[in-house]
Amino acid sequence: MRMAMASAEVGDDVIGSDPTVEALQDYVAELLGKEASLFMPSGSMTNQIAIRLHCQPGDEFLCEADCHVYNYEQAAFAQLSGIVARTIQGEFGVLEPEQLLGKIRPAGDHMVQTRLLCLENTHNRGGGTIQPLENVDAICSWAHDNSLATHLDGARLFNAVAATGIDAKRWSQGFDSVSVCFSKGLGAPVGSALAGTHEFIKRARRARKLFGGGMRQVGILAAGALFAVQHNRERLTEDHANAELLAEYIERSPGLSLDPKPETNIVVVHIDPSLGNSATLARQLAAEGIGGLPFGPQHIRFVTHLDVTRAQVTRAGEVLAKLTSAVRN
Ligand SMILES: Cc1ncc(COP(=O)(O)O)c(C=O)c1O
Repeated sequence: MRMAMASAEVGDDVIGSDPTVEALQDYVAELLGKEASLFMPSGSMTNQIAIRLHCQPGDEFLCEADCHVYNYEQAAFAQLSGIVARTIQGEFGVLEPEQLLGKIRPAGDHMVQTRLLCLENTHNRGGGTIQPLENVDAICSWAHDNSLATHLDGARLFNAVAATGIDAKRWSQGFDSVSVCFSKGLGAPVGSALAGTHEFIKRARRARKLFGGGMRQVGILAAGALFAVQHNRERLTEDHANAELLAEYIERSPGLSLDPKPETNIVVVHIDPSLGNSATLARQLAAEGIGGLPFGPQHIRFVTHLDVTRAQVTRAGEVLAKLTSAVRN
């Protein structure tokens, strides 16, 4: 990847003439079955630009209560675009189609107008959960039947692809816009893409400049992203197998439990209060060179990715078993 970046042909993407960015955008659009795509610095930007373009100031979008767009992007849809969110609590981030019924506001001068539905697949806070395809299909059809646009936060869409064997085009089919990240399990240092129709991406390009995301000789970064998306998708199954291995250790560690059982590369663990809390456990693990992110007072999140080997996961499992048995004894 570093070699590809070092030797990347570059131009000036702000005026639309960087050949490596264009190659990446064409590749991603084709992969997702959309007419066009646009490279941006982050998944937060791709999501927020999509929401801005699907809605007008004062409009509302529907999303799952624990989703990234709502919880971890500073409500940029409100700060930057004057849009509000209506959240619906899923189970580990998964929404059932029936939960959406009645959630569209009726027309009327008093009412905020519901314009958009966002889904996240896989779901980060939910523990890397995969939205079942039949739910995605039913929810997107319902949204379109009710004149809502649909956006997919597919920051980890390729994990859903690797875990299910269902291709990215099929997962993206019901969505008007799709955001994917190159910087997560795929291992690029930077970058995301937003995909949709030619007309939508033309508008997204304008919004990207407004948000300060126009980048000039950015083929260097696009080359890393292109390498990631071409070479690192299939190996995501290794990360999933490593997450399962870690899960086996956790199931054997007294006081720790999986919440939920991992489906992809994220392992969220509940810590029984008798063992302390997530901050304490994260500190103990850090002292052993193991990264775990406190995810609330009694939860910690582990992520397996291409920089974590099976041997390191085995060691992490052994350290967890040792720490928990030391407290219990
Ligand atoms: C589901 C999801 N969407 C979007 C993002 C935002 O990506 P970025 O960190 O590139 O802004 C993240 C980041 O963790 C995420 O998990």
